[in-house]
Amino acid sequence: MASVVVHPASRVRGHITGPGDKSISHRYALLAALADGITTISGYAPGADCASTLSCLASLGVVISGPTGTPDVPPDQRVVTVTGRGLGGLHASRDPLDAGNSGTTLRLLAGVLAGHPFDSVITGDASLRRRPMRRIIDPLSQMGATLHGTDDRPPLTIRGAALQGIHYTPPLASAQVKSAVLLAGLHASGETVVSEPQLTRDHTEKALPLFGVELIHDHGEIRLRPGQRLRATSVRVPGDASSAACWAVAAAALPGSDITLDAVGLNPTRTGFLSILERAGAQIDIAHEAAIGDEPIGRLRVRHGEMAAIDIGPDEVPGAIDELPLLAAFATHGGALRVTGASELRHKESDRITALATGLRGLGGHVEELEDGFEVLGDRPLSGGTADAAGDHRLAMAFAIAAIGAQAPSHIHHADVVDVSYPGFFDILARISVR
Ligand code: S3P
Repeated sequence: MASVVVHPASRVRGHITGPGDKSISHRYALLAALADGITTISGYAPGADCASTLSCLASLGVVISGPTGTPDVPPDQRVVTVTGRGLGGLHASRDPLDAGNSGTTLRLLAGVLAGHPFDSVITGDASLRRRPMRRIIDPLSQMGATLHGTDDRPPLTIRGAALQGIHYTPPLASAQVKSAVLLAGLHASGETVVSEPQLTRDHTEKALPLFGVELIHDHGEIRLRPGQRLRATSVRVPGDASSAACWAVAAAALPGSDITLDAVGLNPTRTGFLSILERAGAQIDIAHEAAIGDEPIGRLRVRHGEMAAIDIGPDEVPGAIDELPLLAAFATHGGALRVTGASELRHKESDRITALATGLRGLGGHVEELEDGFEVLGDRPLSGGTADAAGDHRLAMAFAIAAIGAQAPSHIHHADVVDVSYPGFFDILARISVR
């Protein structure tokens, strides 16, 4: 599937149960590998990224069965069983570990391996090998491990050691950095404290207690006491908010749309896109359900409302970081959007500012690149055209959601990259689109 044709839609309608959350699936798999006993994870995310985490763990001696079912079975039936090796119990891998396209796999696993007294190499695909690792090299080196990457990029070699806890204030808002330090801290002697400059997704903090690890939250600091072993458990992964965002944005953009999304993760560190869409005029009804594993979930119903111009500043960026391309797509449907304080987008699976602007322009959009963001003006319908996903799953999906509002069919090149997080994305788009 090199190229996909996306047809214009007058509206979208339907009921969707999306895939399990990617960020949470990675964390449950990693913690299960470090736990004593057998953990069962249901709703494990179906994309290639979370498969990369499992295959890296298998190379480190972890016995894993599943996921059961194909990507299109109901999420709850995708079950992974992990036989934990206990804290510090991973075995050295003979070969380099391949994290594929997954920055979360690489950075979180680096935190774990920093505390294992052997050498590891983690690499990945061409996109991952371009991504900056200084952000984890610094704190993990301060804790006592030795890490090296050419020009601070993967392949990353990690010489694990007996770690010391640190008090760390990341220089940037990054859940991956916070999580790498906390995971290393599990293996350290002395307390590990992370103090975030801006709140980022807190799935690691919510996941650790499920495995019996106590964290103390104290005036914006997360404190981890050393010497805590992890206990295996049974966990269920909520629906992925970032995947649900595709359909929420499509419904909010097209008049007459009506989309219901089931069991969506509603962790407030992930739902920035919902408040932004509401501010832009969308009608969103949220029915909260009982939380699973301390992660709030609920059913969303999203409909179009008159579109207002939106401005997203630095404070809102961490809570909507992965949805910014979709929000840009939303604006092409007749809105206007300005995003600033988002230079981190340049370090994602692609340079998400340049590649987003290039792709949306290829579809006929009015987009201006800023150093730390972008502006989109939906002052006329998209003509339709071609856009290249540039090896970035979130861009492939954003271009498709923009293209349904175009006047003619569009071609999304390299669209199969959606499999990184959302296999079946284009089938669902076809099912809910009304021509
Ligand atoms: C993620 C954190 C974010 C996000 C990424 C997933 C995670 O990255 O963009 O898609 O699971 O921790 P940063 O930590 O680099 O901001």
